[in-house]
Amino acid sequence: MKQLLITLLVIIPLSMHSQESMNQFIDSLMSEMSLTEKLGQLNLSSGVGDLPVITEGEGKIEYIKQGLIGASGGYNSLKASVEESRLGIPVITGRDIIHGYKTTFPIPLALSCMWDLDRIEQMARISAIEASCDGINWTYSPMVDISRDPRWGRVAEGGGEDVWLGSRIAQAYVRGYQGDDLSAANTIMACVKHFALYGASEAGRDYNTVDMSRISMFQDYLPTYKAAFDEGAGSAMSAFNVIDMVPATGNRWLMTELLREQWGFSGFVVTDFTAINEMINHGVGNLNEVAVKALKAGIDMDMVGQSFIGTLSQSLKEGKITEQEIDTACRRVLEAKYKLDLFHAPYQYHDKKRASEVLLCEEHKSKARELAARSCVLLKNDDQLLPLKKNLNIAVVGPLANSRTDMLGTWAGTRDTTDIVTILQGIINEAGPKAQIQYARGSYFTEDDYLLNVNRKHKNKDAKKITIDPKQSQRLLNTAISISKNADVIVAVLGEPRSWSGEAASRSDISIPACQQKLLKAMLNTGKPVVLVLSNGRPLALCQEDQHVPAILETWHAGVEAGNGIADVLFGHYNPSAKLTMTFPRNVGQIPIYYNHKITGRPIDHNHKFTSKYLDVPNTPLYPFGYGLSYTTFQYGNIELSNKQLKGNVKLEAKIDVTNSGKTAGEEVVQLYIQDPAASVSRAVKELKGFRKIQLQPGETQTVEFTITCDDLKFYNSKLEYDWEGGLFNIYIGTNSQEVQAASINWTK
Ligand code: BGC
Repeated sequence: MKQLLITLLVIIPLSMHSQESMNQFIDSLMSEMSLTEKLGQLNLSSGVGDLPVITEGEGKIEYIKQGLIGASGGYNSLKASVEESRLGIPVITGRDIIHGYKTTFPIPLALSCMWDLDRIEQMARISAIEASCDGINWTYSPMVDISRDPRWGRVAEGGGEDVWLGSRIAQAYVRGYQGDDLSAANTIMACVKHFALYGASEAGRDYNTVDMSRISMFQDYLPTYKAAFDEGAGSAMSAFNVIDMVPATGNRWLMTELLREQWGFSGFVVTDFTAINEMINHGVGNLNEVAVKALKAGIDMDMVGQSFIGTLSQSLKEGKITEQEIDTACRRVLEAKYKLDLFHAPYQYHDKKRASEVLLCEEHKSKARELAARSCVLLKNDDQLLPLKKNLNIAVVGPLANSRTDMLGTWAGTRDTTDIVTILQGIINEAGPKAQIQYARGSYFTEDDYLLNVNRKHKNKDAKKITIDPKQSQRLLNTAISISKNADVIVAVLGEPRSWSGEAASRSDISIPACQQKLLKAMLNTGKPVVLVLSNGRPLALCQEDQHVPAILETWHAGVEAGNGIADVLFGHYNPSAKLTMTFPRNVGQIPIYYNHKITGRPIDHNHKFTSKYLDVPNTPLYPFGYGLSYTTFQYGNIELSNKQLKGNVKLEAKIDVTNSGKTAGEEVVQLYIQDPAASVSRAVKELKGFRKIQLQPGETQTVEFTITCDDLKFYNSKLEYDWEGGLFNIYIGTNSQEVQAASINWTK
């Protein structure tokens, strides 16, 4: 049989195979498969865990030989599946390659701030090139969950709060990973996650309940997933949360009616890690029942939970599911393997020679440096404190200044930390031959007992409690104060270690911890100019810092080349051009806060008490969506519209002159927003509908043009129809979501 399979495949190259030849191949393969072997294809084993059916570890290879595992990692697993299982069906190998593999790039939230789809695609391409020679052919990325809650640690993994931008970013990832030929040895299959709405977990607490109206789903959350599927993403991952009170993993409306019947998705769906088993906790059945629900909903592969392999044959005997339902799921998994050319060239993703050439190669590292610089958002720069001059005496302080691993952020592929460039090292590299750099850590990350020990409790019950030595804390601070005495400038590198963002890393207080703030205050008290360099995985609440610190650079978790890329910005080799893709609130109490909110019936009015506002803080954010400074300044002219009045399905041209009014060449992200102020449902104050990233020399003016079509005016009405309604539209173009020029048009149907 194995020989027959191969013969069928080698006759024609895979890229020339038709749907028909794939069907024939899979029909013939499936006709040979036993029920157990089919269920095996639906079973992803990660080699960890101790769930009921399969004991992991050494046993795993035995199970692979028996055809009980369809997805797993490692060369030995692959070899056993190909050479020692009855039908030789290769395992598919997935991993979380979300911002680079060995060459770890800035976290996805940082990358989104580049507003540069080509560079995001290049990043994903490099990720695929590296991962695909090291045994991986499937990545659990992109994460396209829209979130308006920076308490949720997983905002680090996504593309920000906006559905329009998020959709385009999602597509750039898919293009980068999958290229134009999924069967090629250097492309990998994308897995769009977490379908769906995972980013809207209540109170920003990971894995928490999601509850939202259908109209919000369709308008503000679902389009990113659809965009990725439209781009051809080969697989999807279910979310942990409920949707309409039914867990996404067992939600037939979501997984079949919407995803397959309405959107036409033809790839396969894997659950999130043990998400079927977790449906028991959601309170919708026992293991056998939830596995049935998941299969019937449209799930094809069970990640790690072993509920399919463990219970579905019994459920089949009891008539609760049909063999056809198992076949459908099995077919979809086999199709993915076929598209990756795994049957024909199973070892093409294990290529030591290619690995030695591409993993962390100079070309990839230099891209990582470029993207680290391009992801830095300049939040404040009084009196042009930045860029720093060369050859200064610089005091570098802060717990993130000399940290290697924290630069990687969540889900990093880099294991060996020797190649990671710290921010301190980057400054040393770029500061100039006569510069004097002194370093002091200055403070712990936190002295908060709960925060320090929460992870310890989870990892190891016997682990020693972490305690802070107050004397050491004082010594750290004193050293920082003493090295700053002779400095021309202080660079304070503060923020969050990598474990404070990503999965299961929600925070209820997103300010900089007290001990780091104390360090910052001590630095400000020296009277020296202080540059605050932030390294973190989410928007932070920075009111204090914004009030007192003259220059603030948000650098996120910037990857293996963090230090060099950040130093490029600090010393002006790269003029920052990134803009926030998530709103920075003034404090946690404002959350959820996002730019495309609705207007209430009682908009804020300080002359009237009974209007929508807080007593203790303005309604506006500290830094709005789309915000970010440059070392130069840009001036916007007025918007020129091609028409003041339009009818029907035509086009509107909007033009604006943007001038570099400063002394340095720079890039500007020119943003287009539209508002529909009167419609059958209440609409957002404005919605992003386009952007251009332009480069301008000092004094140069460019006319930036946008073409607006009726598609840009469409929205979901209360019948969930996607259409536009005629009337007045406000067109805004500007440098961020708040500072815009305005014009309006009357556009009837
Ligand atoms: C996460 C997913 C991830 C999976 C596999 C889960 O816990 O939610 O995003 O892809 O683990 O690592």
